[in-house]
Amino acid sequence: MKIVYVGKVTKEFHLGSTVVNALRDIDLTVESGEFMAIAGPSGSGKSTLLNIIGCIERPTSGEVRIDGVDVLNLSSNELAQVRAARIGFIFQTFNLLPVLSVAENVEYPLHLKRERDGKAGKVASILKEVGLERFSRHKPAELSGGQRQRVAIARALVGSPSIILADEPTANLDHNTGTEILNLMKGLNKKFGTTFIFSTHDQKIMALADRVVELRDGMTAGDRCTT
Ligand SMILES: Nc1ncnc2c1ncn2[C@@H]1O[C@H](COP(=O)(O)OP(=O)(O)OP(=O)(O)O)[C@@H](O)[C@H]1O
Ligand SMILES: [Mg+2]
Repeated sequence: MKIVYVGKVTKEFHLGSTVVNALRDIDLTVESGEFMAIAGPSGSGKSTLLNIIGCIERPTSGEVRIDGVDVLNLSSNELAQVRAARIGFIFQTFNLLPVLSVAENVEYPLHLKRERDGKAGKVASILKEVGLERFSRHKPAELSGGQRQRVAIARALVGSPSIILADEPTANLDHNTGTEILNLMKGLNKKFGTTFIFSTHDQKIMALADRVVELRDGMTAGDRCTT
């Protein structure tokens, strides 16, 4: 099943009188359950493409369907619902809320989804999946970078989204920790069938993906399956 369809997408940014063509005519189809990387040099459009798939940014032109829903025709309220129900985000800088405990950070998306029942149980079971069950009362500042990213992975997964988008999830981690985090993501992808799309410049991290789509100057420069 097609989970993401991006058709002829362009994105222009206007900076005074200059126009930056961040994406030019991008076509991309992602099947449910894929574990794929978006690669490419700095400025090639990786974050812009992830933000468009994540319904955080609108393209200048083109078509975007997430789980069969044409998201460009939705109101901002409806978009917020699509994001809450179907998409989880993982960021380079973890983006945890420092005043909340690990468990409270992970529970946060369930509030956005207005879930009433069983929140504590879901949080506990997902913290176990990422190996942090003993840290639920800790604050993010008391954790290592790798542990913080595990909290962010748990937060992205707790609402059972169909897609997880991760923009350079390993860029602030040392190589071994980055590899551990990627392998954790891959294990969760296989176990739950959640589609993962992540960006990276790191060749070794890229090698762990089942498919690599390469961007150059806002255009697709390659699409290869590695499995
Ligand atoms: N909000 C913005 N306003 C103006 N230009 C932008 C904006 N966001 C991105 N751009 C431009 O669009 C192009 C693509 O940027 P993008 O952030 O998607 O690249 P990237 O591949 O994620 O790079 P990096 O690897 O450095 O994160 C760049 O030329 C960038 O300067
Ligand atoms: Mg980027």
